[in-house]
Amino acid sequence: MGVIIPFHYYRRRKVFITGCTIIFLFVIIFCNDKAFTYTKEYLESLKKRQSRASLGIKNSTGSGPVPVVILTYMRSGSSFCGDVLQASDDVFYLFEPLRNVQFHFRNSSAFDYLDDKKRSYTNFLDFAAIFLNDIFRCNFENLPLIFFSDWFLNKGHKSKEFVACMNKRTATNTSEIAAIRQCTPVMKRSCLTSKHIIIKTIRIPLTTLVPLAELFPKLRIVHLLRDPRATLYSQSFFGMVNKDTSQEYATMFCRRVYDDLTTAKHTSSLQSSRYFSVSYEHLAKYSLETTKILYNFLEINFNAKVISRLENLTKAENTCDEPELCTKSSNSSAEADKWRLSIPYSFVHAVDNVCHMLYSIVGLQSIPDEHHLRNLSFSIKRKNIHDLGDFRYI
Ligand SMILES: *[C@@H]1O[C@H](CO)[C@@H](O)[C@H](O)[C@H]1NC(C)=O
Ligand SMILES: *[C@@H]1O[C@H](CO)[C@@H](O)[C@H](O)[C@H]1NC(C)=O
Ligand SMILES: *[C@@H]1O[C@H](CO)[C@@H](O)[C@H](O)[C@H]1NC(C)=O
Ligand SMILES: *[C@@H]1O[C@H](CO)[C@@H](O)[C@H](O)[C@H]1NC(C)=O
Ligand SMILES: *[C@@H]1O[C@H](CO)[C@@H](O)[C@H](O)[C@H]1NC(C)=O
Ligand SMILES: *[C@@H]1O[C@H](CO)[C@@H](O)[C@H](O)[C@H]1NC(C)=O
Repeated sequence: MGVIIPFHYYRRRKVFITGCTIIFLFVIIFCNDKAFTYTKEYLESLKKRQSRASLGIKNSTGSGPVPVVILTYMRSGSSFCGDVLQASDDVFYLFEPLRNVQFHFRNSSAFDYLDDKKRSYTNFLDFAAIFLNDIFRCNFENLPLIFFSDWFLNKGHKSKEFVACMNKRTATNTSEIAAIRQCTPVMKRSCLTSKHIIIKTIRIPLTTLVPLAELFPKLRIVHLLRDPRATLYSQSFFGMVNKDTSQEYATMFCRRVYDDLTTAKHTSSLQSSRYFSVSYEHLAKYSLETTKILYNFLEINFNAKVISRLENLTKAENTCDEPELCTKSSNSSAEADKWRLSIPYSFVHAVDNVCHMLYSIVGLQSIPDEHHLRNLSFSIKRKNIHDLGDFRYI
């Protein structure tokens, strides 16, 4: 015989079960603070990487030019950003000074120096910290010889005078090392008489700059960000992303950007007076306004000469050798969104799948379909949401 259970019992049981479920969910979400534990561990691991780069370098005396780093990633519009900043005569600019030395490091950990000594490093980022410490002080004579043969020295208005000097000397049967000895003081003087020494790099994480920010109270960091879909698509033409590994590569890439943003947010020495993040799209679309803000942040004098050079940069005829990220683009504003017209939707979808956590903290959104992708009136920006302290691995 079945037991008759009164209706109100069911109701009570239902209330009871619902109550338990709510309490259970509450416990899961708020008490079992896995998300917070994850964030703590994550920060610990960042700190560990920071301390390894603290290498007993002496504090800066504060005299000399203000060091500035444009920290960014391959194909993120950094040539443009660098040229915008070196539009001022007060700036001594170096384009990718870590490039040649990094390529050398991959072959050999030993570097030759002007003092005829050889020095070896076990870790590239440790080397990079020491290298940047010398650059920030214009101590070019302390840099490895391989630095001086980098063709990229031609990309800085002032550093290219060093290349001219080298060419002149070596044409007169002076040995390369003797020429470097003669031309380095010229570059040093040019650097020391500038108000800012600005370098642009895609080769280090922000953590490498944290100990330097402590040693150089005036150091400022410009973190240049671009839509990762545009960056990754552009990188794909440089063999960085191949079809099979693109999702893995995109995850890695977005995690790297996410790491840098997290470092910036949680490092007390990188307050808003030291660190500034700027989007390439914003810089390209609102060049004048954004440059003004950048100059203001870096305390570089924004004058009529800068404005006229800026106009040349954003409106001059398209003559540069980088078809997509031209600094001298015919229309830098149109340039910023052009990728949306040619990128395959499948590529966008693959990146969206693994990068949406990054989007949430940089104010971007996934693109629902090809129709929205191609419609440039459809804005892919959205309000930043609270940092969830999470990054999804595949
Ligand atoms: C550098 O200076 C800061 C404050 O000005 C000080 O806290 C720090 O200990 C100094 N570091 C070194 C290596 O001298
Ligand atoms: C590294 O080694 C490769 C192969 O030996 C060579 O082609 C390349 O020029 C070297 N690069 C540097 C920067 O020494
Ligand atoms: C260049 O200098 C080297 C050594 O100083 C010498 O042996 C050589 O003959 C010189 N060449 C010319 C073209 O002057
Ligand atoms: C702008 O570009 C033109 C043509 O390349 C050049 O003649 C002019 O000097 C440039 N102006 C500035 C301020 O750089
Ligand atoms: C540049 O491109 C933007 C966006 O497509 C457009 O609104 C603007 O009129 C263009 N400017 C010139 C000078 O072609
Ligand atoms: C493009 O997007 C805008 C903004 O979302 C929308 O108003 C417009 O109707 C869209 N155009 C087409 C052709 O779908």
